Amino acid sequence: MSTIVRSTPTERVDRWWIEPLLIVSVLTFFSIYALWATLQNGFYYAAPYLSPFYSPCLAQNCAHPELPLIGSWWNLSPAFLVLGVPLGFRVTCYYYRKAYYRSFFWSPPACAVPDARPRFSGETVFPFLLQNIHRYFFWLALVVLAFLWWDTLLGFRFPNGFGVGLGSLVLLANVGLLSLYSLSCHSCRHLCGGYLDSFARSPLRYRLWRTLTRLNARHGLFAWLSLFSVIAADLYVRLVAMGAIQDIRLF
Ligand code: FES
Repeated sequence: MSTIVRSTPTERVDRWWIEPLLIVSVLTFFSIYALWATLQNGFYYAAPYLSPFYSPCLAQNCAHPELPLIGSWWNLSPAFLVLGVPLGFRVTCYYYRKAYYRSFFWSPPACAVPDARPRFSGETVFPFLLQNIHRYFFWLALVVLAFLWWDTLLGFRFPNGFGVGLGSLVLLANVGLLSLYSLSCHSCRHLCGGYLDSFARSPLRYRLWRTLTRLNARHGLFAWLSLFSVIAADLYVRLVAMGAIQDIRLF
């Protein structure tokens, strides 16, 4: 990294490279883990818990087929049927765009540090032009979020009735953070009132917009926390399903 610092024409003498390095490490780790978990096609359901990577379970070959829209011809991992929505939502997210443009493309890597490439084309050329579809991914992400809430509620339903296990709380924390991440989305704030020229005749819209604006200020935080919570929830379900750990039943 010291080579990078020396070869980058900047007068900054602090360790500005730590943040991009951390972001590259975390996003690379998450991408590898998500792909690995998707390819596993097993140990994603430990009754009554379903891994968030497999929710909603849309294929008949699911261990927990809640909405078997896809017939038995589907032989691949059912996670592939839903992966595109959360992936597209995150890849086109305004916050993540800033994060990976800086850390992966060095465009620019940090404040007062020049771009790695002399010319900046922004998002005016393909494929970056496609980032504009983020608002549509927002709607799709809401559908997936609704299923995640449903699966979380099912995580409180045990064979002998209502109960609370550690897994129930892990899933609840995960879906809570995912909800905060989705509701703090810039597109959500815009759709709920940001596009209005005046709030004078829309007091309810104004209150909603103000609440979302407060959430929006922490969007980056929710982006990271929800990324880790998805992994934690999948890992917990996976370890219970494998028999590596036992779920703790609280009551
Ligand atoms: S801006 Fe990040 S999810 Fe919409």
